[in-house]
Amino acid sequence: MLVFKTAHHLRSRFKSNLQTIGLVPTMGALHKGHLSLVKKACEENDKVVVSIYVNPTQFNEVSDLKKYPSNLEKDLKLLQSFSNQVVLYTPDHKDLYPDGIQSKTYDFGTIAAHMEGEYRVGHFEGVATVVEALFRKIQPQKAYFGEKDFQQLQIIKALNAQKKLGVTIVPCPIVREKDGLAMSSRNRLLTQSQRQAAAQIYTVLDELKKRKLGKEVHAMKDFFIKELSREKELKVEYFFVASTNDLVPVTTIQEGFIYRIFTAVFAGKTRLIDTVELGRI
Ligand code: PAJ
Repeated sequence: MLVFKTAHHLRSRFKSNLQTIGLVPTMGALHKGHLSLVKKACEENDKVVVSIYVNPTQFNEVSDLKKYPSNLEKDLKLLQSFSNQVVLYTPDHKDLYPDGIQSKTYDFGTIAAHMEGEYRVGHFEGVATVVEALFRKIQPQKAYFGEKDFQQLQIIKALNAQKKLGVTIVPCPIVREKDGLAMSSRNRLLTQSQRQAAAQIYTVLDELKKRKLGKEVHAMKDFFIKELSREKELKVEYFFVASTNDLVPVTTIQEGFIYRIFTAVFAGKTRLIDTVELGRI
């Protein structure tokens, strides 16, 4: 598999605009969630660029950045199971941040104001900065993002529209472990007992979807917190219900909108996020 350290080399290799390029941006420590994006990208493009870059500007805590899992050797092996349609881009900081490692400023309005935007201040500016750099340098026709990070996906759609980057953003469904836990690179940081407990996050979210608890969000939140409190290793950081168009948390569900639950839960020191769409109440 071809591995490029600079976008310049990568682009000069794929000069012809007759070949379509699909981009799958990642921070490595690849799992089946990432691979589902790569698979979809392979189906829809001539070439697929998988980027692996642990982006410092999106980490609001240095300790979180330091312990972020990485295993390039294993990532390479996983990607080799695809044909040579897939190429890997592993830039160093200079390639993506030639003028220094710093976030740019953006205005994404309400979609960045709550949930991850509120609890990880500066996170989305970091994400947008690196994704804008990737889009400009790789110039893909399409780029693939998981609904696991639903708010991030909406930010990237907004970024793409605001900056007229001309990339088709392709959303991909959440891939889960057998017991329902959303796959995440951070799951590798869990102890065995934390990993077992973490399965409850989705179990209770799924249960919430099935229960008719009415239209009041506080009843859902109380149920979620009460159920998860049975697991000593879990601590709910936030639980919100927001409509998918503006991502503003609501207290009461109304007819005619699509809502999602968004939650962040600590399993020990590892922070996990999950989201599910709420069916009709
Ligand atoms: P990372 O967490 O590595 O995720 C890369 C992509 O894989 C994201 O689009 C994410 O939503 C998707 N993904 C992760 N787990 C998934 C799962 N279980 N099912 C489906 N898709 C999943 O998200 C980032 O990196 C970074 O913020 C990035 C966009 C690369 C910018 O640095």
